[in-house]
Amino acid sequence: MVSRSGRFTSGPAREVAAFTESVSFDQRLWKQDIQGSLAHADTLRQAGLLSSAEYAAIAKGLQAIGREIAAGKFRWRQDLEDVHMNIEAALTRRTPAGARLHTGRSRNDQVALDMRLWLRDEIAGVQSDLRTLQRALLQLAAPNAEVWVPGYTHLQRAQPVSMAHHLLAYLEMFERDFQRLADCADRANVCPLGSGAIAGTPLPLDRERAARLLGFVDAQGKPRVTQNSMDAVSDRDFVVEFCAAGALMAVHLSRLAEDLILWSSREFNFIRLDDAYTTGSSLMPQKRNPDIAELTRGKSGRVIGNLMALLTLLKGLPMTYNRDLQEDKQRLFDTADTIRACLRLTAGMLSKTRVNAAACRQAAADPALLATDLADDLVRKRVPFREAHHAVGRAVALSEQLGADLNQLTLKQWQSVHPAFQRDVTGAFDLARAMQRRTATGSPGSAAVKHQLTRWTRVLKPR
Ligand code: ARG
Repeated sequence: MVSRSGRFTSGPAREVAAFTESVSFDQRLWKQDIQGSLAHADTLRQAGLLSSAEYAAIAKGLQAIGREIAAGKFRWRQDLEDVHMNIEAALTRRTPAGARLHTGRSRNDQVALDMRLWLRDEIAGVQSDLRTLQRALLQLAAPNAEVWVPGYTHLQRAQPVSMAHHLLAYLEMFERDFQRLADCADRANVCPLGSGAIAGTPLPLDRERAARLLGFVDAQGKPRVTQNSMDAVSDRDFVVEFCAAGALMAVHLSRLAEDLILWSSREFNFIRLDDAYTTGSSLMPQKRNPDIAELTRGKSGRVIGNLMALLTLLKGLPMTYNRDLQEDKQRLFDTADTIRACLRLTAGMLSKTRVNAAACRQAAADPALLATDLADDLVRKRVPFREAHHAVGRAVALSEQLGADLNQLTLKQWQSVHPAFQRDVTGAFDLARAMQRRTATGSPGSAAVKHQLTRWTRVLKPR
């Protein structure tokens, strides 16, 4: 038991080892651990703490271990606790110089470093998955700029929008997610190496050099290192930030999933999900269930839970490193894995989804959707909006009484609710005209939406 040598006379009980180990899940950090060790070894050589021959032996050994792990031939030992001890022990078995590698370093700054390195790469991957999903949304939106559907508030039909406009709403959400991730990556991009266990090291290690080697630099190429050793070994803000961004992304994915579930129901019938993204029922032969969307909605619970678990984990910790912090990794990995799976599956599902334009058109033909436009027409005739709203409300009530649609009222009936209604009242029921009139930025009007489609095509162009 390497970690206890010297101070302890016996190894821990088997049950204790199983309880305290993290290698079963943190072995995932092996690449970053080796990367960090190579940079640290370089710093030690530069400080005169490793000879060139020792450095070469360490570098060669670490690279060989990397190849062994990549090939699946490395034997991970639970009794060596974590990824750090496993790799260091394997190195020392290969070369005695391995025993010098941990000079001026602790697992506390080592694990903080590995996680920052891992997260930096992972965020780039999540961002690329986000882009793929945004492209799938754009592709589905583009041909549907003039396929009108009812827009809903309170899940009650409100006003007409286009299918494209509805889908583009999600592009906005995912774009904010993208920016949040960029922000998170920026704060993760600071090197904690050299903080030691808590109080740094009296040895002359060049922290800036290590940071530069590991790519912890700003836009000008200047190294970025943590500024307080106590904060550096106990800070997991970057993990929380990522899991918070992930939780919000999961919420966005869940809302999109809910829309797709509703739309694919017979009651809405706005879309048809592809067979590949639906499942049958073991009992009811006619069923096509939107399980992928449902699981995406369901998994958001896990991702939100991961954030809560992390915040709870951190809130009562005294300074500085406490073993509790080992519990951060599974929450982090699970958030990343779950989010990425949901992003990819949702993108795949959308790329095979068909919009049922006929059903959309039929739903959007509901003349009541244009009740607000009727009031706006009165406003154009200088009727105060409150009065216009009241008048149209009375017209709606009248049509309900008569068991007719709103656009079936006669001119006499219109004038009975307000004298400002003229023969041109029927013009308000021209859906295409109503949608042409909505020209302001951000509105669902044809031109405004086409403008957005062009903008998104530019933003999402593969580089
Ligand atoms: N496996 C540990 C973790 O994940 C590494 C750091 C251990 N440090 C220590 N002092 N026991 O947090």
